[in-house]
Amino acid sequence: MKEELEKIREECQASLALAKSELDLSELRVRMLGRKGTLTQLLKRLGTLPESDRKEIGRQANELKRELETQIEENLHHLREAERKEALRKEKIDVTLPGRRKSFGKKHPLTQILDEIIQIFLRLGFEVVEGPEVELDYYNFEALNIPKGHPAREMQATFFISEDVVLRTHTSPVQVRTMEKKKPPVRVICPGAVYRCDSDPTHSPMFHQVEGLLVDQGITFSDLKGILTVFVHHMFGKETKLRFRPSFFPFTEPSAEIDIECFICEGKGCGVCSGTGWLEILGSGMVDPAVYQFVQYDREQVTGFAFGMGIERIAMLKYGINDIRLFFTNDLRFLKQF
Ligand code: PHE
Repeated sequence: MKEELEKIREECQASLALAKSELDLSELRVRMLGRKGTLTQLLKRLGTLPESDRKEIGRQANELKRELETQIEENLHHLREAERKEALRKEKIDVTLPGRRKSFGKKHPLTQILDEIIQIFLRLGFEVVEGPEVELDYYNFEALNIPKGHPAREMQATFFISEDVVLRTHTSPVQVRTMEKKKPPVRVICPGAVYRCDSDPTHSPMFHQVEGLLVDQGITFSDLKGILTVFVHHMFGKETKLRFRPSFFPFTEPSAEIDIECFICEGKGCGVCSGTGWLEILGSGMVDPAVYQFVQYDREQVTGFAFGMGIERIAMLKYGINDIRLFFTNDLRFLKQF
């Protein structure tokens, strides 16, 4: 039994040296120290030994058992420690590396311009209202004093949905819808998309306008001039020169278009302003009394003015953009500049 014990000791040492994992170690423990383990079995057989050997071999066997237990524990501990270190090494991050910046989105240039326009008019006491893009012929034309067959309809190449329904060609129908709903005083702006059958570097079949309408008692053309001058100065800078040029719209009388001095040639005349020195930015006029009759306003009691501008056009002038299609092609190289 003494030799047997020696053999077990050697086997334990060899196995300990080879054990590379927790599994190896627990197998070794079972094989030696388990209920049917080699060392356990040997300990059980101690009683069969003669008294003289029993004490010494028993002592050695118990000692081997304790040693093996501690060794296994220790090796387990080392293994776990090594695993932890490896995990830490793998997960290590270099806190001195420069960070990766998140890229932020931002508002489309047209939205930025629209926000700016709205802010200016909110400060002047206007409120924002909206109307439908698919519009009745009645609101887009009839009630704006443009009867069927009238040559003024030719001014706006229209997309028809049916005989009586169109894609609105301007935001002016919202004037009528607003006055139908509300008695004067009225002081609104109406932003939104409009549609015209037209496409080239300065015309897009879908574009945006902001309409304005102010109706009250005693409103005169001076109010129109005052408000729109304030607007131009806020939008393009207070040094901007502007002029009111007589024009025609079926729903305003008198009518005027507003031009600002060409910022490329400063009024001398160049390619951008077609040699005139001026750039048209909006249409306006005193609401034609004929329109009041459609909305049951008393044309003897109230007067007012209206105006309409293209948001793309304002943006193109403000930023010097020469192709309207850039707004709608979603090229990030373009959009990122704003
Ligand atoms: N609706 C006109 C257009 O689209 C602009 C306009 C609006 C003119 C209001 C006068 C008054 O051309």
